[in-house]
Order: sequence, then C-alpha cells, then structure tokens
Amino acid sequence: MTPIAPMAPLTELRRRRSAKWRTYPDEVLPLFVAEMDVRLAPAISEVLHRAIDVSDTGYVAPDTELPAAFARFAARRWSWDVDVEQVSLAPDVSVAMVETLRVLLEDKGRGARGTDATIALSPPVYPPFYGWICEVGARTVEVPLRENGDAGEGPRLDLPALEAAFRAGVDVYLLCNPHNPVGTVHTHDELAAVAQLAVRYGVSVVSDEIHAPLVLPGAVFVPFLNVNAEARRCGVALESASKGWNLAGLKAAMIVTGDPRVQEIHGRFPAELAWRTGHLGVLASTAAFTDGEEWLDDVIGVLDVNRHLVSDLLAEHLPEVRYRPPEASYLAWLDFRHLPGVARLSGSGQLARDILGSCGVALSSGDDFGPQGAGHLRLNFGTSPEVLREAMQRLATYTPTAPMLGEVG
Ligand SMILES: Cc1ncc(COP(=O)(O)O)c(C=O)c1O
Repeated sequence: MTPIAPMAPLTELRRRRSAKWRTYPDEVLPLFVAEMDVRLAPAISEVLHRAIDVSDTGYVAPDTELPAAFARFAARRWSWDVDVEQVSLAPDVSVAMVETLRVLLEDKGRGARGTDATIALSPPVYPPFYGWICEVGARTVEVPLRENGDAGEGPRLDLPALEAAFRAGVDVYLLCNPHNPVGTVHTHDELAAVAQLAVRYGVSVVSDEIHAPLVLPGAVFVPFLNVNAEARRCGVALESASKGWNLAGLKAAMIVTGDPRVQEIHGRFPAELAWRTGHLGVLASTAAFTDGEEWLDDVIGVLDVNRHLVSDLLAEHLPEVRYRPPEASYLAWLDFRHLPGVARLSGSGQLARDILGSCGVALSSGDDFGPQGAGHLRLNFGTSPEVLREAMQRLATYTPTAPMLGEVG
C-alpha cells in the first residue's frame, strides 16, 4: 500500500527555509533538530491553504476549537477525558513550560523569579529543560535516568533517586513523557509512583507530552493526568500537535490541568499568553487532532520501519555504536563511546563538530543533554530511507582525531 504521508525527497527539502534546512550548507545532511521530512497531512494543508486564500493571517480568536479537538483526540487515542475548561493556549511548549513554572513557583512562595526554588529533571534530557529552569531563576537538581534497567531494557526513571531528591527538597519535577532523547515511554506504574512521591513531598510535576502522538507500536502512552487523582492533584501537562504533525513553526500548544484545585492557574497566566499563540498554528493543530489521525498512523508506520532500519544500518556500517530503538518518536540516541578514540571527546560538543566537519552529517551533540550525554549523538530518523542510508555511509568514514584536552603539549 502506498503510504499517504511519504517523506519528501531531498530536492524538495532543500527548498524549505526552516532551521533544519537553513542552518548548514546544502552538502550537509541535517539530522539534528526535531523536524520531520514529511509532507503536511492533507487536512492540515487544506486548512492552511483556505486561510491563505482569504489572507486570514491575523490574531488567534478568543474562543477556538482547539481544546475540544484535542479533548476528542485524547479520548479516542488515550481514553483520557480532558476538561476543556482546564486548557490554556500557549505559543509553544517552551513558553507553556516557563509560564507554568512561574505560576507554580509563586504558589510555593518562591516569587516570580523563583529565587531559592529547586527544579528537578532526569538527564539525559532535551537541553532546553536546563534553560527553562535558568529562565525562572531556579536551581537545577539532576536525577538521571537509570541506565539499562532490569532485563536489559532502556533507561528508565530512577524512582528511589527521585524519592531521595524530593525528600531533600524539590519544588517542581520536569517529566519528559515520552522521554527525549532516549525514547522511553513511562509506564502507568512508574507514573503512579512519581505522582505518589510528588504528593507526599509537595512537589509539582510538569509533564511535557509533546512527543505523545508519536508513540510507536509496542508501547502505550499514558497521559500523566490520566494516571489517577494524585497525578491530577500535583500535575500540569503540556500538549501540542507540533511534533506529531510537524507544525513547530506555526506556534500552538496547550497547558492542561485535571483537578479543580489546580485549575486556578489558568486564571493567572498573562492574558497575552493566548494572544501570542499562532492563529495558523491553532487552525492547523485543530485540523490535526480532528482529521489527521490516519496520516499520523501512517507516519508512525514509517517511523517504526525507520527505527529498525537505523539498527540494521549501524550493524552494517558502525557496529561499535550502541543503539536501542526508541519506544516513541523519531530520535535515535547513539552511544559512540565504544568507537576507538571517542572516550576522549567528551563534554564539549567536539564529537558532533568532528562528525559535521569530516562526514557532512549534522547530529545533535549528546553533551547538551546533560553529563550522561557524553560520547552520544542524537540522530533524527524522521526522514527517508535514502537519506538515512547516505548518512550512515558518511558516518562509517569517521575516525576520531581530536586530542583530549591537555593531552598534547
Ligand atoms: C521534549 C520536548 N519538549 C519541547 C520541545 C519544544 O517544543 P516547542 O517547539 O513547542 O517549544 C521539544 C522539541 O523538540 C521537545 O522535544
């Protein structure tokens, strides 16, 4: 069967003007930033064309269909009953996170700038998690994922370490659900344990669920607020169509709560938060959640094939590189530490720079994801098999050259 959402060919992709296609010269294969090479879902394309045809490019309307469209999607897909009265619009997940943190820290008497506040995260994690904490003036507490848990599974939440951190004093825990960059989908039991600990120690949990629509076959996404009453009591969820349907540039996300006691935060966001949300983003996201599910399933099928293709290509070209196919989304977390010479290149982004310079492949440096990212690179496989094959052939030519700091001289 012909997929309805094929990846665009390179000739077409090179005409795009987004960050993925304008950061590096044309000879570089850009597999870094989290944009996919898909063509838009037909339902989204139509709604955007209709808007452009009548120059409908103004501000977002005060009352939009997006919360209701998301609620219907969440009910169908995840059996989650979202209360549309407990949804605020925001321009993107990053802004949603910072505004949410500001309000939560005020609640905890930490003031809008969060001085003395403590926010925990679980590295390796999407680098802006660190930046958001700085933006609200709080202190970062790292509770790393537990490497290679029982039965050789991928990295998972370290619940005893989370408890120790919460007991020592944490105001907010930033949950990445599913987890970028390792692709772990947290289980119901893990999330219930997080909620229980959070309530016990008075910690708020902000669950970044931006990758949730892209959970791949074999894993089941559990929305944090759908876990139980404890999760709703301590939790705020951030949702968006931007990863699932590749709409990051259109700027629309949602802040969702599920408990009347938490609901009041919606009244405390700046009024401009909704005004700053992209009108086209809201139209596109509404179409995505309403009419974009068939397309989404097709993309999930393509990503499922690609995550295994990455394994096959690594076995063929780079057998020293370790990789576990993710349970969600299109990011491959590659462990280069067993490649001779790589152990020396850590902490500075040197490995990613070397590979960019010598192979012409742009990957995200693991160093940016926290100390556990040393010797790792993140590869975006939301692309065609042709691009993946070409990237792996180029990577196979890599030999680490840079000397360790202080090694020479
Ligand atoms: C886990 C996670 N959160 C947030 C973002 C950024 O989202 P936004 O563009 O909506 O700010 C990304 C982007 O890749 C992400 O992976």
